[in-house]
Amino acid sequence: MGTAGYTFSDLELASLRKKAWQMLDVKRIPHVSGCEEEAVCLARRWGESPSAAAAAAILHDVTKRLSAKEQLALVKQYAIPCDDVLLASPKLLHAVTGAAVAKAEFCMPDEICNAIRWHTTGKPEMTLLEKIIYLADYIEPTRDFPGVDALRKAAYEDLDSALALGLSMSLEEVRNGGAEPYIDTVLANSYYQKIIREEKNN
Ligand SMILES: [Fe+2]
Ligand SMILES: [Fe+2]
Repeated sequence: MGTAGYTFSDLELASLRKKAWQMLDVKRIPHVSGCEEEAVCLARRWGESPSAAAAAAILHDVTKRLSAKEQLALVKQYAIPCDDVLLASPKLLHAVTGAAVAKAEFCMPDEICNAIRWHTTGKPEMTLLEKIIYLADYIEPTRDFPGVDALRKAAYEDLDSALALGLSMSLEEVRNGGAEPYIDTVLANSYYQKIIREEKNN
């Protein structure tokens, strides 16, 4: 599990924040700002570059405001490979289009774009930065839902256990809402449940 190995100066992060926040719904700024704060804390805890984590967090929801039609236009513009389930779900699409915009408009390296790409669904074998952004999005200070405290605690004790917990909670939430969970989340959940089972047996 390598680290992203990128650093950004305070000045670069400030300019990123300025540009990205203009692309957000004003009501989403506290969430994105909280996500940045949490991502930096997690990066310090787990040995990732704090400024790389900050950059990924600042940009992670940069296309969230866009309509389904606008999301699809970006998919076309950047020729992003998408399956039918993704194409039918703007909630999932913002992660995909956000990663493409981070690359094309903000010239971010692949490691950072990938963390944006996987922040909503997760996937098996996530990098350290991908794990940090997935969890920071989930547990940042403005989040409030049953189980958030247990998830916060886990994120600072054992990253893979936190992922297993977060992914299973996310699956439950989707299923409770009557929807079919996305395949990447199902696969990610199985993968991290297996990892923590093996850890317990060793
Ligand atoms: Fe998001
Ligand atoms: Fe988010």
